[in-house]
Amino acid sequence: MDKYIINGGIPLHGEVVISGAKNAALAIVAATILSDEPCVLENVPEISDITICLKILYEMGAGIRIIDKNTIRIDTRGVTNPVVPYELARSIRGSSYFMGTLLGRFHEMSVPMPGGCDLGDRPIDQHLKAFTCLGAECNIDGGVVIAKAKALTGNQVFFDINTVGGTINAIFAAVKADGLTILENAAKEPHIVDLANFLNSMGADIMGAGTDVIKIRGVKYLKGVTYAIIPDQIEAGTYMVAAAATRGNVLIKNVIPKHLESITTKLRTTGVFVEEFDDAVRVSVDGPLMKTSLKTQPHPGFPTDMQPQFTAFLTLCEGTSIVTDDIFDNRFRYVSELRRMGADITVEGTTAVVTGGKLIGAPVRATDLRAGAALIIAGMAASGTTVIENIHHIERGYENMDEKLRLLGADIKILKEHSVSKQAL
Ligand code: EPU
Repeated sequence: MDKYIINGGIPLHGEVVISGAKNAALAIVAATILSDEPCVLENVPEISDITICLKILYEMGAGIRIIDKNTIRIDTRGVTNPVVPYELARSIRGSSYFMGTLLGRFHEMSVPMPGGCDLGDRPIDQHLKAFTCLGAECNIDGGVVIAKAKALTGNQVFFDINTVGGTINAIFAAVKADGLTILENAAKEPHIVDLANFLNSMGADIMGAGTDVIKIRGVKYLKGVTYAIIPDQIEAGTYMVAAAATRGNVLIKNVIPKHLESITTKLRTTGVFVEEFDDAVRVSVDGPLMKTSLKTQPHPGFPTDMQPQFTAFLTLCEGTSIVTDDIFDNRFRYVSELRRMGADITVEGTTAVVTGGKLIGAPVRATDLRAGAALIIAGMAASGTTVIENIHHIERGYENMDEKLRLLGADIKILKEHSVSKQAL
């Protein structure tokens, strides 16, 4: 297993360019199943979650051409069987999007229950509720979701809970259904807007994405397009917090500052200086860092996907901060790793109490993607050396993170652990 070795205590300086958004790209790559012609996707992040998504498409019969590392041509006309391979689907959350796209195109699908970060229980009842509302019969058999519909017909779907994945899957099922579908209490995340923009550019009729009521009038044909994915809000937020935690000065380029407002606001309350430009933000620190409190919320609130990174930062801010994250059952698993580095954090249910102090490098283990990013931030801000295991979690969602950080002056290396083959013995 590869590891990151970080020698901390170096403020980050310089410029970093943000990649395409993982969670938009996962939805948009899966959405190509609905296209009647080939599509070219630009600004696709080169991360392992996307590689797996592309492998799923390829194994189902799609033509995939890598034009350059961030530009991919996808032709799904060769997909004839709406069945997703088990092992690949189990390793990522984004595989759940094949439920909606295959159902939308073939009126039937067989998709293994999705995997992804272990953040506690991650049910899919709202996805299935939406499919059922549109006329599908859904069952779970042996860990596989199976659905079939004679026809998909537009309907009203009221989500009992704010769900990004459920909203996206409902859009997929509705986009070629007969008539009008109205999604109420829909999620409003930037990647939902990006997905709707992609589908609309192909000829779909989706209105209201970015609000909690989305109206979708079914269409018969979706044409092929060339489309560039939006910049990653969470990757940008992660570099903002990394710049703050190391008391650096970093220009973060290729961002949509509006998507970062909740993060910008929270950083400012701690004493961090954030300057906004058209498509960049500069983060710098030259005074004391103070406590703050935060509660994660669906967009436009503070994103749960930034909670671990921000909590790591708060371990360096004077005073006691309170962090509440109840979007998922268990998003504080990384706290015991931060404690190894001297962090003063106690967790009670979905609330963490963080008292600021100093961090000292230690051997730690990434428990999931954002937890891994939090440990990198902690390692760069700590004195001494931090060794992070299980970095495959980080590679799932951050493009070239170690390289981007080295360009900002961080002392971070990958230690490749080559397994010794039997022949070599
Ligand atoms: N939920 C249900 N029933 C459902 C669906 C969701 O109870 O049918 C619950 C979940 O258990 C959770 C809450 O609703 O408690 C929100 O879940 P949501 O469906 O919004 O999350 P998701 O679609 O599974 C996506 C991102 C996550 C991100 C969340 C919240 C992708 C591939 N994943 O997950 O991203 O944390 O939305 O914004 O888009 C990450 O990038 O690190 C990551 C975990």
